[in-house]
Amino acid sequence: MTRKLFVTTALPYANAAFHIGHMMEYIQADIWVRFQRMQSEGNGLREVHFVGADDTHGTPIMIAAEKEGITPQEFVAKIAAGRAQYLDGFHIAFDNWYSTDSPENVELSQGIYRKLRDAGLIQTKTVDRFYDPVKGMFLADRNIKGECPKCHAKDQYGDNCEVCGAAYQPTELVNPFSVFTNATPILKPSEQYFFKLSDPRCFEFLRDWLNTPGRLQPEMVNKVSEWLGEAGEKLADWDISRDAPYFGIPIPDAPGKFFYVWLDAPVGYLASLKNYCEKQGMDFNALLNDPATEQIHFIGKDIVSFHLLFWPAMLKFADHPVIEKLKVNVHGHLTVNNEKMSKSRGTGISPLRYLNLGMNPEWLRYYIAFKLNFKVEDLDFTGDDFVARVNSDLIGKFVNIASRCAGFIAKKFDGKLASELSPSAQDWIKRALLSAEGKERQASIAHNFENREFGKALREIMEIADAANQYVDENKPWVLAKDAEKTAELHEVCTTALILFRQLAILLSPVLPGVAANVRKFLKDERMVWADTEVASGAVYKTMLGRTIGAYEHLMTRVDAKMIEDLFDAPAQQAAAAPAAAEAAAAATGIEELAPEIKIDDFAKIDLRVAKIVNCEHVEGSDKLLRLTLDVGEGRHRNVFSGIKAAYKPEDLIGKLTVMVANLAPRKMKFGISEGMVLAASAADEKANPGLYILNPWPGAEPGMRIG
Ligand code: 2FM
Ligand code: ZN
Repeated sequence: MTRKLFVTTALPYANAAFHIGHMMEYIQADIWVRFQRMQSEGNGLREVHFVGADDTHGTPIMIAAEKEGITPQEFVAKIAAGRAQYLDGFHIAFDNWYSTDSPENVELSQGIYRKLRDAGLIQTKTVDRFYDPVKGMFLADRNIKGECPKCHAKDQYGDNCEVCGAAYQPTELVNPFSVFTNATPILKPSEQYFFKLSDPRCFEFLRDWLNTPGRLQPEMVNKVSEWLGEAGEKLADWDISRDAPYFGIPIPDAPGKFFYVWLDAPVGYLASLKNYCEKQGMDFNALLNDPATEQIHFIGKDIVSFHLLFWPAMLKFADHPVIEKLKVNVHGHLTVNNEKMSKSRGTGISPLRYLNLGMNPEWLRYYIAFKLNFKVEDLDFTGDDFVARVNSDLIGKFVNIASRCAGFIAKKFDGKLASELSPSAQDWIKRALLSAEGKERQASIAHNFENREFGKALREIMEIADAANQYVDENKPWVLAKDAEKTAELHEVCTTALILFRQLAILLSPVLPGVAANVRKFLKDERMVWADTEVASGAVYKTMLGRTIGAYEHLMTRVDAKMIEDLFDAPAQQAAAAPAAAEAAAAATGIEELAPEIKIDDFAKIDLRVAKIVNCEHVEGSDKLLRLTLDVGEGRHRNVFSGIKAAYKPEDLIGKLTVMVANLAPRKMKFGISEGMVLAASAADEKANPGLYILNPWPGAEPGMRIG
């Protein structure tokens, strides 16, 4: 039976450009999808539909559009237009990219809602809500700030405190204010629509659904089971309505009420599939009702409650066929040096910056895949580890095999591979491709790809590469090439090595699709399919023996460690990481869009001081940084690295005054600890105007003076 796979990733909010976390999730899903497609080639065993969409509704997008003086639809369209450069750049091949602001989503969301209502699972309750009397709108939790009711930290959001971690209702905040107008919100009664998750039917269903084998990772079953409580007593009704003005889908028969964005967001998976089916002439309903159809969601651990409580309960009680087909794969977050990424600490990775530096997207795909397993664990990016892993595995082990053997086939054998192999060469191939127990490694690799154990799959592939390199090392084609009597042997050794190389390229293709396409060209091989990786049937040799191959062109370069330094450059230079809306504004006006408004208290947290540059020198091994020795009047000197080498000669800066952030946490850099940051101006479009201008106070200022 053909497995019909409907694969999705979490739908990104359409209020910003993609960040590296999005790329991590999409790469993971794309690898799985490509693996599945390869299983299908030549046998039709899989039908794969990989769809995504922008998650467009909600207050933040409405407000962002308002700020720019455009409609939410125009705002969302601008964000959508920026998606392709990321997806294409990292070889992420969705079949369809759509929007939750679409007729399909309206129809499907309202349809699901009506069925829930008919099932008696929608209830209205009048609740007090915060209302901004100046702006004339109800406020979402994140639109209200105030003092934490527990630890009394100031300036905390309406849902939880970033200082002590407490969760509370916005109405509990001390001295609340609206983030839009600073007005004190008033409580206004409002009729709201609730999905009755507390209904015993939901508990009974969810308990069984979660525990269906193969549906979720075991850690997730345990976690979500805790949220249910022993008998569902922990399940609370879910407020699914928002009052106008709201950018969202109207609730049927409820004037002025809209679905909360999280109600229609997951329906967006179905809307994108429906839209795709319409474009392809496929029957959407037939696909959803087909027993062979499975839906696989890839999502991050932060949005589990929406996908494992509300969404399945909605599907179930709307009697939706997808509920029985749903499997959810949850992943952890991407960290850098085992810490949450932070722009201000200079550990943010911007996907566009990565690409603009000329870094190969397939390095990142490989690195991410190597670190992924079936568990819900964070994935850590460490520069040194990234360089070592890519250079050692992809260059040292994989590409190296072809680069050591291809030249001999071209020069000595007119590009033609040997037509047969001796039993000893065949034996080598078996030794490389079969496990100690004689089992096909490709089958175990396929099993690991299928189960999202990508790290295990790649480790096994690299064991094959080790065996292939050992074969080349022991048989030394470069020595054989010097002996005219060993020509046949040379031919066999290079042919055997290239058969193993091709095997590796096929097994790596879900992760390295670009390289695999180039290997196909090099080997003049249209038929690089998973089925050709079998040893037992002899498929590994069949299309290779006697084949004339093309000229070898270098497949991949090594990672230059210096690129990592540039990847993590000073926060001020991370223009590419700015939200797409800000990028668009920059493009229109020539300047970067202003950061969100802050209060005077926020500004007061930054301690800016006049600093004297007592010394300045080049940093050995860095073509961007200068090392500054600064006097901030503290009776000691500070060491600060600054990425201004392109703009200033050290001798021109010595003795000058400048401005520094003096209370920035010290930051460990490759060349030492940096104890602050020197301020410099740069244009939004670094390419058009690459200048950097450090700040210089007027005469009379002295080291240590506070700026404010
Ligand atoms: O957390 C987020 O970024 C949401 N936009 C994810 C939505 S996933 C799905 F429900 F659409
Ligand atoms: Zn607190």
